[in-house]
Amino acid sequence: MTAKVAWRSPSNIAFIKYWGKHGVQLPKNPSLSMTLSKCFTDTSIVLGEKRTKKNIEFTFKFNSKENKKFSERIEEYLNQVSGQLSFLNHYRLEISSENSFPHSAGIASSASALSALALCLGTIEQRLGTAFKEDFYRRVSELARLGSGSASRSLFAEYSVWGQTEHIYGSSDNFAVDLKVPIHPDFKCLRDIILLVDSTEKKVSSSVGHGLMNNHPYALTRFSEAGKNLKEIIASMRSGDFDKFAFILEHEALSLHAMMMTANPWYTLLSSNSLVIMQKIKEFREKTKSKISFTLDAGPNVHVIYPAEEEKKVQTFIESELVPLCVDNKYIVGSIGRGPEMLVDEFTR
Ligand code: PMV
Repeated sequence: MTAKVAWRSPSNIAFIKYWGKHGVQLPKNPSLSMTLSKCFTDTSIVLGEKRTKKNIEFTFKFNSKENKKFSERIEEYLNQVSGQLSFLNHYRLEISSENSFPHSAGIASSASALSALALCLGTIEQRLGTAFKEDFYRRVSELARLGSGSASRSLFAEYSVWGQTEHIYGSSDNFAVDLKVPIHPDFKCLRDIILLVDSTEKKVSSSVGHGLMNNHPYALTRFSEAGKNLKEIIASMRSGDFDKFAFILEHEALSLHAMMMTANPWYTLLSSNSLVIMQKIKEFREKTKSKISFTLDAGPNVHVIYPAEEEKKVQTFIESELVPLCVDNKYIVGSIGRGPEMLVDEFTR
């Protein structure tokens, strides 16, 4: 048998943040994210005959080169899912990946990388006829979640919710679902400009950050607030209420970073320019009545969010006021994305 499968899978930016986990990569609170258009990973897997007696045999190339650090993470992941994917013990896998954005840009790539890998594995499982009878994307979301929680949300167009909540029918801690509620047209065409404030690698990983929520003095309040914020932000997206949306979006971003700064030991991933940019966005919104707002991932880079109708006005502001605060004037222009795309699907027996 020869087989090759490849997928392009996007990254996502959480509007309601997942921060704190338990059990096998299960979230302490529900999260909601927007799928991105410009930040994605292309991953391919070629299935071949095993050459050794190793339980799991694979090679991994990132940008056509071996990468020890990523290889170790993939090995750990493949071992973790091998109980569910029996073909992993019977075939050799040649895995290759590349990102649309520079690896060193300080943009979290685990969501796109792990979702692209899980899409390839889920497709192979399906083609070999061993797939679960459940929905393909639900199955893949669950596989992706085991590698990186936020990756579970990268499988859907526009918006996705991960974590059980009474506000979303069919939601689950095990996998993410498409946000199926009708939303205001402005929220169907949001822009996301990522201002690259610092491109060095994170000093504290997300896994350490999640872990610090275990004994965090504000943890319980944070988890219940996230649930309430999810309900409220969806309401604002349905009605097109940008004032309410901006407040919750920014409150979520600042709460995530406040959790880091009030942990034991405390740390921060923000840099001084992240603060200057946030302040400038707030002032611009107040002065011009713009629908602009910001959010942050676990890092110093600022995501500027606004509806497409404000393109001209906001672009001028970003270019003149915010871009000079970016490292080497670098930023990524993107928007709400349409979800993953299959690139290759070749199976012959
Ligand atoms: O998926 P992880 O384990 O890398 O955690 C990501 C957590 C945040 O990116 C900070 C928030 C989120 O919900 O994506």
